[in-house]
Amino acid sequence: MSATLKVKVSEARMLTPLVREFTLTPCTGRLPGFSAGSHVQVHLPLGERTLRNAYSLTSDPAQHDHYRIAVRLQSDSRGGSRHLHEQVQVGDTLTLSPPANLFALHSQASQHILIAAGIGITPFMAYLSELEKRNAAVELHYLCRPGLSDAYLATLQQRLGARLYVYDGQRRIDLPAILGNRPLGTHVYTCGPQRLLADVQEYARALGWPASRVHHEAFSAPQPGTPFELELLRSGKRLTVAADQSLLEALEAIGVEVPNLCRGGVCGQCITRHGGGDIEHRDHFLTRNEQAEFLMPCVSRGCGPCVSLDL
Ligand code: FES
Repeated sequence: MSATLKVKVSEARMLTPLVREFTLTPCTGRLPGFSAGSHVQVHLPLGERTLRNAYSLTSDPAQHDHYRIAVRLQSDSRGGSRHLHEQVQVGDTLTLSPPANLFALHSQASQHILIAAGIGITPFMAYLSELEKRNAAVELHYLCRPGLSDAYLATLQQRLGARLYVYDGQRRIDLPAILGNRPLGTHVYTCGPQRLLADVQEYARALGWPASRVHHEAFSAPQPGTPFELELLRSGKRLTVAADQSLLEALEAIGVEVPNLCRGGVCGQCITRHGGGDIEHRDHFLTRNEQAEFLMPCVSRGCGPCVSLDL
């Protein structure tokens, strides 16, 4: 496992009643640099368990003295976002995994179309800092609920002016109009729920966009389920994965480390061979054929008596 970082919460503020922003400064030394679109995993000790939730860095990548994240309180939270909203205070220390980027800006793009829904705005805050420095052509389409999920709206209005398009329920987003007749070299980036990502991909494909110009990052967090038994074929260990625990977290709790980045079933890092059992896959990475042999322990769960893994 890569080394973790200790940071202090130097500021915390509510951006909306649902979104809390944290400014994090290093406890010692310097913070590793990051590129726009990066995220960190925040390690959250909840009782006897440690959750690791991934949050996009919203701060300017050129600022090396702090990181900033914004956390939406999730109604179906397993406790991570609630802990960050209700327990963590200024002066507290948090543990992070170093930044990783699964949603980088394209360096050769001539135009950037950003589409965000709700808390999906977070990676684009870092994008905008970078794009402003490049003096790049950019427009942002922001779907949000006024007063609830419209974090950073005032600053976006100031920074983008007429290049900001807000869809607050009164006005609907028109994807064919946004994606139609764009010059070669335009890239579109979407961050939001799976449904929005799928719509953007579908319209882009229908309008002839090459897949290499369509980028997305899904909201991704393991969803709870029912408890199940797990057997590790190589070590012979058996364990129970609790209802509100991911398979990956259960492995980490007994000291079995599996490479991981997104912890949401999209990056492919945690791919693990399974030895059968009834599996609910829940990932967005494996093909149906591959699922017969592998699973992604960050999101997949057993739904039968016992699942076995080649670990
Ligand atoms: S950590 Fe990314 S797919 Fe599991």
